[in-house]
Parts: sequence; C-alpha cells; structure tokens
Amino acid sequence: MQGFVFDLDGVLADTAKYHYIAWKQLAAEIGITIDEVFNEQLKGISRQESLERILAHGGKSSTFSAAELAKMAEKKNQHYVELLEELTPEDALPGVRELLAAACEHNIPCTVASASKNAPLILEKLVLADYFVGIVDPESLAKGKPDPEIFIKAAQLMAIDPKEVIGFEDAQAGIDGIKGCGMYAIGIGEAEQLKGADRVITDLTEIAIEELLRI
Ligand code: BG6
Ligand code: MG
Repeated sequence: MQGFVFDLDGVLADTAKYHYIAWKQLAAEIGITIDEVFNEQLKGISRQESLERILAHGGKSSTFSAAELAKMAEKKNQHYVELLEELTPEDALPGVRELLAAACEHNIPCTVASASKNAPLILEKLVLADYFVGIVDPESLAKGKPDPEIFIKAAQLMAIDPKEVIGFEDAQAGIDGIKGCGMYAIGIGEAEQLKGADRVITDLTEIAIEELLRI
C-alpha cells in the first residue's frame, strides 16, 4: 500500500453529528421529521442531494422552486458552520492524529475525499491540514459518492494506482465508491452500514500503520 485517502465527516472529525443536527432542524421547519436511521442515507452525500432526499422522504419533492431549494441548503449550511465554531483540535476522532503522523513518518501520502465544501475550514480548525498532500475539490466532480470518481481523483493527486491505496470511510456510499475503483476499504462504524468493506473498525486506534502497510 502506497497511499491513504480519508473521508472527513465521521472519519477524521466528529462532525457527522453536526450535519444531522442542522438537517433535522431544517427538515422540522418544513414539517418533515428525520431520525438517525434515515440520516444514514445522507452520509457522504452532497448538500443539494441530501436536501432532495429529505424532501422525498417527507413527500415534498416537487414543492419548492430552485431558488427556495438553494435558500434552504444555504440555511442548513449556515447553521452547520455555526456549530463548527465549537470545533477544536480535540474533535479529531480517536487515533486520527497518530495515524496521520505515522503515515508522514513512513512517507505515505494522505489525501481527503469528502463531499463537503467545508473540508478546508474543518481541517484548519482541527490543525490537521498539513498532513495532507491534497483535498479533492467536490465542485470538480461530475458525480458524487457512491461513484468512485472522488477516490480516483484522490489517487491521482498522489500519483498512485487506486489498487495501492487504502480508503477510510464511515458511509455506505463511500465504501461503494472506494471498492468501485479497486481500493482497499476500511469502514469505520457498524458493519451493517458498511457492506462490502474489506475490514470494519470502531475507530482508528484499532489499527496500526505497520498492519496497514502489510495489506
Ligand atoms: C459529507 C457528509 O462529508 O459532506 C454529508 O457526510 C454532507 O453529510 C456532505 O452533506 C456535504 O457537506 P457540506 O459541508 O458541503 O454541506
Ligand atoms: Mg463521512
């Protein structure tokens, strides 16, 4: 294995919970209730598509104009960014900083493959930005996760064949994208929500770099 690619929300940072809080509030304002089970379907999915899924869930798919949809997505993001103000370097998930530092020591490049447009801000707040050789720009993508495009672009940023890259993900859409380009997939979370992952762990403290490099 020659390189690592990390999802952000729910892998590097405990921010998946803030996305959920912000979507739940926005949904409630338009009379739609979402729960944590439904929220699994939003993980790894772009802001606009998440909103579309929430509206479909509430039976309100064709209720709003494009301008109203854009306003709603912006409102959710403003709430989310407010919640991010509380973020400190301690909000990096367990084992993240240690694994990134070990990767640096072993000259293993790391990239970020996240649907989030807030990724650069979050990495700065967590003081993790310097560990990465690049962040895939989600605006540059023709298709989001589960399409493998974002992971292929991450491998290109490192000039490494995807088959020699390990991808870390907390969402089913992400695992599907990683496997779709032949990477080795490590799921973080519950196995039922990470079907097809080569290995599932609870957090990054469970795996040492030596073990990863032997894969
Ligand atoms: C993904 C999250 O990482 O980014 C999704 O899992 C989120 O929940 C998506 O919707 C887009 O993020 P943002 O910050 O650009 O709204
Ligand atoms: Mg995620």
